[in-house]
Amino acid sequence: MVKSFKTFLKHTAKDFHNQSVNPPVVRASTIIFKSMKHIRKTQKKAQKNPIGGHYDYGRQGTSTTYILQKILTKLEGSYHVFTTPTGFGSVFLAIFSVVRPGDEIIAADPVYSPTRVLTQDFLREFNIKTIFYNPHDLKTLERSITKKTKLIFVENPGSNTFDFQDLGKIVSIAKKYKILTAIDNTWGTPYYLKPIKLGFDMSIVSATKYYSGHSDVMGGSLAVNKKVFQKVKAAEKITGLRLGPDDAYLITRGLRTLDVRLDRHRENAKKIAAFLSKNKKIKLLYPFKKNSLNFRMWKKYYSGASGLMGLKIKSNNINSVRKFVNSLKLFGYGYSWGGFESLVLHQEFRETGNRKFMNLAKDEHLVRFHIGLEDPNDLIADIKQALKHLK
Ligand SMILES: Cc1ncc(COP(=O)(O)O)c(C=O)c1O
Repeated sequence: MVKSFKTFLKHTAKDFHNQSVNPPVVRASTIIFKSMKHIRKTQKKAQKNPIGGHYDYGRQGTSTTYILQKILTKLEGSYHVFTTPTGFGSVFLAIFSVVRPGDEIIAADPVYSPTRVLTQDFLREFNIKTIFYNPHDLKTLERSITKKTKLIFVENPGSNTFDFQDLGKIVSIAKKYKILTAIDNTWGTPYYLKPIKLGFDMSIVSATKYYSGHSDVMGGSLAVNKKVFQKVKAAEKITGLRLGPDDAYLITRGLRTLDVRLDRHRENAKKIAAFLSKNKKIKLLYPFKKNSLNFRMWKKYYSGASGLMGLKIKSNNINSVRKFVNSLKLFGYGYSWGGFESLVLHQEFRETGNRKFMNLAKDEHLVRFHIGLEDPNDLIADIKQALKHLK
């Protein structure tokens, strides 16, 4: 009788055995069986039903990780979800599962900068070439396809630049040429965008961000369709990239309020975007301005927006940009995002990485805001006082 996902999140994963509303944390390396016969029986069950939660060793997970995987599978509408110790572990697992020496990858130019280093530099040592496409010109994607192209790797929106792409078109190009697709969906999470339902083969979320929501745990999830399941399963087994039960518990706990928090992040971000949009020195990198390409692409595919946004600031005085950022009192200076607290970063080369299609003029500067769950009026007042320093 469970009606919506919001209700499901609140009522799932109870421990009926111990009568507690939350599942136990089952920590295990060794799993003890009654006899060898029982070990073999479990192994047969696991072979027959590889997503059924049958374990003979702790590296495969325990009931605590299994519960999280089941919740995420329902949220994603996918065949299965693998969970990894970090979000970047899921990025690596997705690529490592399907790409081999001699293959080529086509990736969105504004991917998360460690994803760029992995594809562009690290994988090149394994004779795997990556070509980057312009997220707003998919001809640059289609033109890059060769017989060797194995994977199209999308991140939406682009890290730091927040370009929203035509996801449906990317899927149809990939299907036309029989190329696999993966997307980093950390910004929207499947609460706002369900990539597997759109036709992507793999979808990554850094659980470190909104899933956990409290900046106290790291994790990743990789949702897959049936087509790539066996390949990812084999790679997961050989790399041992699996989330531990304590982290799985914390992420499950965070998920209980995912909808409530994301709705509030969205509302707060909207108010701050409305305030910032009045400032002539600032171009908002957030789906706010109706009729812009980014807004249309966001609206076409997403049911909501999260709390991460960019500010492209026009100023000949970089020190005044630094002063603006450093004068904020309610925003923490730190990496990551998706937690309850607001954060800010001045994005210089270390954060943006080596982009081909990012045309930042000399007098343009990037600042990233993660809008948290504080009272938005307090955040606006804080930004207002800090903006006095911007020249
Ligand atoms: C878009 C995106 N994907 C992946 C990651 C990696 O996640 P994690 O930090 O959990 O490894 C990050 C981290 O900031 C990110 O911003």
